[in-house]
Amino acid sequence: MSGAGEPTGREHWASRRAFILAAIGSAIGLGNIWRFPYICYEYGGGAFLLAFVVALFTAGIPLLILEFGIGHSTEGTAPKAMRKIHPKLEWFGWAATGVGFVICTYYAVIMSYCANYAWHSLTLAWGSDPSAFFYNDVIGLTTVRADSVATAAADSLRAIGAQVPAELVAKPWSLGPFMPWLFVGLAISWVWIVLSIWKGTKTVGKVVYVTVLVPWAILIIFVVRGVTLPGAGEGLHFYLHPVFGELLKPGVWLAAYTQVFFSLSVGFGIMIAYSSFLPRKSDIVKNAFLIGIGDALTAFLGGLAVFGALGYKAHLSGLPVEDVVQSGPGLTFITYPDIINNLPMPHLFGILFFLMLLTLAIDSAFSLVEAVAAAARDKWGWSHRRANLTVASIALLLGVPLIFGVGLHWLDIVDRFMNQVGLSLVVFGECLLIGYYFKSERMRNYVNNLSDFSVGKWWNVCIMVITPVAILCLLGAEIVARFKEPYGDAGLRSQEFVFGWLIVILVFVGGLLLARTRGRKESQSVGSAGVDRGA
Ligand code: PFF
Repeated sequence: MSGAGEPTGREHWASRRAFILAAIGSAIGLGNIWRFPYICYEYGGGAFLLAFVVALFTAGIPLLILEFGIGHSTEGTAPKAMRKIHPKLEWFGWAATGVGFVICTYYAVIMSYCANYAWHSLTLAWGSDPSAFFYNDVIGLTTVRADSVATAAADSLRAIGAQVPAELVAKPWSLGPFMPWLFVGLAISWVWIVLSIWKGTKTVGKVVYVTVLVPWAILIIFVVRGVTLPGAGEGLHFYLHPVFGELLKPGVWLAAYTQVFFSLSVGFGIMIAYSSFLPRKSDIVKNAFLIGIGDALTAFLGGLAVFGALGYKAHLSGLPVEDVVQSGPGLTFITYPDIINNLPMPHLFGILFFLMLLTLAIDSAFSLVEAVAAAARDKWGWSHRRANLTVASIALLLGVPLIFGVGLHWLDIVDRFMNQVGLSLVVFGECLLIGYYFKSERMRNYVNNLSDFSVGKWWNVCIMVITPVAILCLLGAEIVARFKEPYGDAGLRSQEFVFGWLIVILVFVGGLLLARTRGRKESQSVGSAGVDRGA
């Protein structure tokens, strides 16, 4: 973004390419290489992939167009944009930003795993059993296995109506050992994030050339090796061949829709903030398609590499692909080391791979810091530095509980609730607000006036009907299922279930409170409903 401005004085991207790279950099991140494969593995492989493609075209790309339209027309970050649409809706913009902020706190923890693995690549410390290495040495979970046993014992006692001894009850809240190297990785990640945007977002447009293009080249190498490992075919079959019966499960669809939101960074306030810096004439529709399809293709490639490696593991162990590893957020850190072990010059490729993950993650993370910091600048007139440092320090502190031994378990819970409930609610609200209050036809005309390539009326149907109805039904079905059986498939215990909801509620209440704080004069006076900026 350059400070060169239009009469409004708002900073702008230096070029269309800078915007596209920054937005694609935000979209492509750990979501593609870390989250997508394990969610896909957990929800049935091929069936999930199919649901993902449907979700991309019925919700993901339409929502990108929607968020670009909101940001561009109001020239505001999410809270300011919402306030412009209706003065009473600022809280909703803060809630969207808050959901993203919480996601960013644990996202940096995964970056710390990557930093640790980049270091371990020097010695290929994971050896021939990357799974044991991950759980024992990196996150320290096995040292708290006794606690999980205690928790399971407490559950069984409760189930038969027996009294549960106090020492068993206390266990589920245990944090496990502090993992100092994860803390070091977390601190490094945050320093790197802050430095990337230190001189304002002017640097972003330059940094992204490296952080988007280099990782792509490295990923291709991993795909080629992943799919040519012995036994890879079996893993690829699981990934690419849908078992149609799986599509009858609402959980698969909810996972697919929310993965699309996560992966495209919609519902976080990021794309609204980024597009608020676009110059007047910007081809919103073409940009949205480019970013959406580029992001999905990257996830698809990440999946090819991981499932190739899973096939290889199945081939070695003689187990079916669906049982070969424990799924979950640790999957990437178990399967990629396996591929690395099978590459020539494994040390070099190990370092390259984990640095690639870090570079992919960094632009997603700083896009979020920028979205929150820009919202603070819009509201309170803070300087870049003050906003960035405040946001980063709070996020660093909030990430600390997650670097203890059971941290990954809590991370998984926060991730599920923030994505399945938090992001879904935000996206649902955006669809209702623009679809019915603002009128999606009006927004469609607005973006079409700017774009060479127009969106048809199908877009209104996606925003007004398909996306909100899908979220309502899927989230509704999931909530009912969880209330009936809180332990459910995800193996959640009731305390964890309550904790997950509490965080979601806190984010929305936080949004209400922030909206009530006094902003700087200029920002308070913005209250005109509607689109300010002519096309
Ligand atoms: N689209 C990002 C990804 O797929 O990794 C999601 C994201 C997460 C963006 C966290 C920003 C962020 F702070």
